This record gives sequence, structure tokens and C-alpha cells, in this order.
Amino acid sequence: MKTTHPIGVFDSGYGGLTVFRSIAALLPQYDFIYLGDNARAPYGNRSFETVHQYTLQCVEWFFEMGCPLVIIACNTASAKALRTIQQLNLPEIAPQNRVLGVIRPTAEVIGSYTRTNAVGVLGTKGTVSSQSYEIEIGKFFPEIRVYSHACPMWVPIVEYGEYQGKGADYFVQKYLDELMNKAPEIDTILLACTHYPLLIEKIEKYLPPHITIVAQGNIVAHSLTDYLQRHSEMETKISQGGTRRFFTTDDIADFNQHATIFFGEPINAEFAHL
Ligand code: DGL
Repeated sequence: MKTTHPIGVFDSGYGGLTVFRSIAALLPQYDFIYLGDNARAPYGNRSFETVHQYTLQCVEWFFEMGCPLVIIACNTASAKALRTIQQLNLPEIAPQNRVLGVIRPTAEVIGSYTRTNAVGVLGTKGTVSSQSYEIEIGKFFPEIRVYSHACPMWVPIVEYGEYQGKGADYFVQKYLDELMNKAPEIDTILLACTHYPLLIEKIEKYLPPHITIVAQGNIVAHSLTDYLQRHSEMETKISQGGTRRFFTTDDIADFNQHATIFFGEPINAEFAHL
């Protein structure tokens, strides 16, 4: 079998497929491997230590699979594990490889959406408690006030296929009201969790029309394109066979069934032995 050097795309489960979908559409020429750590998902309520340990193990698996570049498409893992992996682990385990996340590329562009300089960030408990968005947005746009709010019920609602159901309305409205009560001047809301784009119709329903809702898929895909243009030493390492392989650490049939909703086309996953 031909040796490939794909770009790895990682998430705690299916959610990262909403990001991978945009990446694969924009960069169809490259080989990709997607891994969902479904056996240990969700990561959203787990401690820093646990998220770091799980994410690092998955990053090492990508390296063994020949990936020189890994995108952490999961907000929680980007918030709680990425910095330690980049600064402490990578220099020891694979100094020539790179691991990138979703928070910095989003923080870099969020200023172009807001006019009131008040941005709402919706994410898991882990992402919100890490304050990663406040820190990263502050580096690029110190004038922006960031109001983060955790939406712990949204991931289970999406995972159980209830995102179009009536039950979802209650929790969508509840969290949006709680956020908007913190700062009515918010004019931009970032969906800082892989699952939330599936709730976009309901989110739009409970927000005034002047509020811009920002999903991350296209932002991350354009940022990756830009990264590859600026880093030819990395770009030339990545193989260009246009293949996509999907792996899960849990049941394949279950992954295939759920993943199709997130990716928008049928998937034939393989089992990943970590
Ligand atoms: N992928 C996670 C995120 O973007 C949501 C699911 C989880 O909690 O593992 O934060």
C-alpha cells in the first residue's frame, strides 16, 4: 500500500466533522485522516489533566499513522490541551510535526464581525472555564469585551438527534437569554463548539435578526489554507491523493450512523486502536 502523509483532524467524537467538512471542501487535494475519540467522549466536562492525557494519546496515534500535521477540531481539547502539547510534548515526541487548534484562527478574525465590540462565546463548560477565548481574542482585539456562556445541554441534544425537536427549543432559548442578559449590546455570537452549528436554525429563531452568528468551519478551513501557503516545508510533506479515512475509538456502525449527520455524506469508518 502506498505510504501517505495525511493531515490529521481530531475531535472527541462526531462534532469535529462539522469543521472537517469545511476543510475537506476547501482543500480537496490533500489526504486526510479523521479520528473521533467516541469511546471517551464527551470531553466537555472533563478536567484539564484528563483532556490533555486523552488528546495527547490521540495526537501520538496520528503521528504513528504518518500525519505530520494535526488539527484539533475540538474546542474543548483546543482550550485545555493544545498549549501543553505544543509547548511541552511536541518538542520531545516529534519536534518536526505540528498541532494546530480552532481557537486562535477564530480569535484572529472575530473583530471583523462585531461593530459594538461585544462578542458572545457559547461553548462547553470546559471551554468556557478555561477562558481561552477571552485570552486569545484579547491578544488580537483588546477593545473587544467577550461574554462566554456554557451550554451543557446542547451537545447531548444534538448527539441524541433532538436538535430539530421541540425539546431543543427550551434549552436553546434558555442559554441565549442568559447570555443576552449578561450584555444586551452583544452583536456577534460565536458557536465555539463543534456541535452547535446543527442547532443554528433554532439559535436564529431565538435571537434578534441584527445579531451575527459565527460558526467556525470556514474560518478554520481558510486559516489552514493560509498556514499551508506560508509553510511550504510542511505543505510539501503532506501527500496529495485526495483520500479521506475516518476512524473511531468506539463502535463503527454507531459512528457511521451519527457521523453522516455531521459530515453531510455517508461515511465508512474504521476502528482505531490507540
Ligand atoms: N467537540 C467538543 C467541543 O467542540 C464538544 C463535545 C465534547 O464535549 O466532547 O467542545
